[in-house]
Parts: sequence; C-alpha cells; structure tokens
Amino acid sequence: MGTFSKRNVLITGGLGFIGSNLARRLVALGADVTLVDSLIPQYGGNLFNVHDIKDRVKVNVCDVRDPFAMAYLLKGKDFLFNLAGQTSHLDSMIDPQTDLDINTKAQLSI
Ligand SMILES: NC(=O)c1ccc[n+]([C@@H]2O[C@H](COP(=O)([O-])OP(=O)(O)OC[C@H]3O[C@@H](n4cnc5c(N)ncnc54)[C@H](O)[C@@H]3O)[C@@H](O)[C@H]2O)c1
Repeated sequence: MGTFSKRNVLITGGLGFIGSNLARRLVALGADVTLVDSLIPQYGGNLFNVHDIKDRVKVNVCDVRDPFAMAYLLKGKDFLFNLAGQTSHLDSMIDPQTDLDINTKAQLSI
C-alpha cells in the first residue's frame, strides 16, 4: 500500500463511480491525485462524488478525446487509472461514433 504514497496519480473518469471511490482510497494512502472528467451531463460524473475529498484532489474538467490535453495531463504522472468511459449499451447503438471515439479512439491516444 506504500506504493502510492507521495506518487502522482491520474484518474480518468475520476468523478464517476469507480474513479471517485478509487480517488478516496488513494488520497488516504498519501497519493497526489488528479482527476480528469468531462462531466458530460448524461454520463456518470458528478462533483458530489468527491465532495468529501475536494480539497485533497485536483479536478481537471476535460475530455479524454482531446489528445493535447491528455498529453499535458499525463506528464510527470507515476500511475494512470484509465476509467473514463461511455458506459451505456443503448447509447452505443444509437450513437456508435461517439462510443467509438470515447471508448476506442481516445484510448489509442492515451
Ligand atoms: N461499475 C461497474 O460495475 C463496471 C464493471 C465493468 C467495467 N466498468 C468500467 O469501468 C469504467 C468506470 O465505470 P463506472 O461504473 O465508474 O462508470 P461511470 O459512468 O460512473 O464513470 C465513468 C466516468 O467517465 C466520464 N467520462 C465519460 N466520457 C468521458 C470523456 N470523453 N472524457 C472524460 N471523462 C469521460 C464520465 O463523466 C464518468 O464520470 C467504465 O469504463 C466502465 O465501463 C464498470
């Protein structure tokens, strides 16, 4: 568990269900945690998910489909937990291009 102490950690999808719970744990372990989340309204991100640790994490509202932002944010990080995702099966069938862009194309640039 000492592995994460004082280490720089980036969590994409950090305001979602898994990302925010992971952030809480990593903060408790002494990590320097940065959260990336697009906060696209219909998706799972919500600032309330980190309300109790808001002063102990950095939040960067940006989209993993932006390769320049991601390249900048990944600089100097020791660990990446890549949890951003379009998680709706129905949405993936209604709008497969967006699903592909977030869940596949963005992953290549990251
Ligand atoms: N929860 C589960 O039981 C489960 C099971 C298997 C796999 N997963 C996978 O784990 C990951 C996280 O799941 P979760 O349950 O926390 O989902 P979630 O919807 O709560 O979190 C996903 C987060 O990604 C963010 N996001 C979406 N598109 C983004 C974009 N383009 N740029 C930046 N951020 C973006 C959302 O705003 C959201 O906060 C997903 O990839 C999901 O498919 C989850």
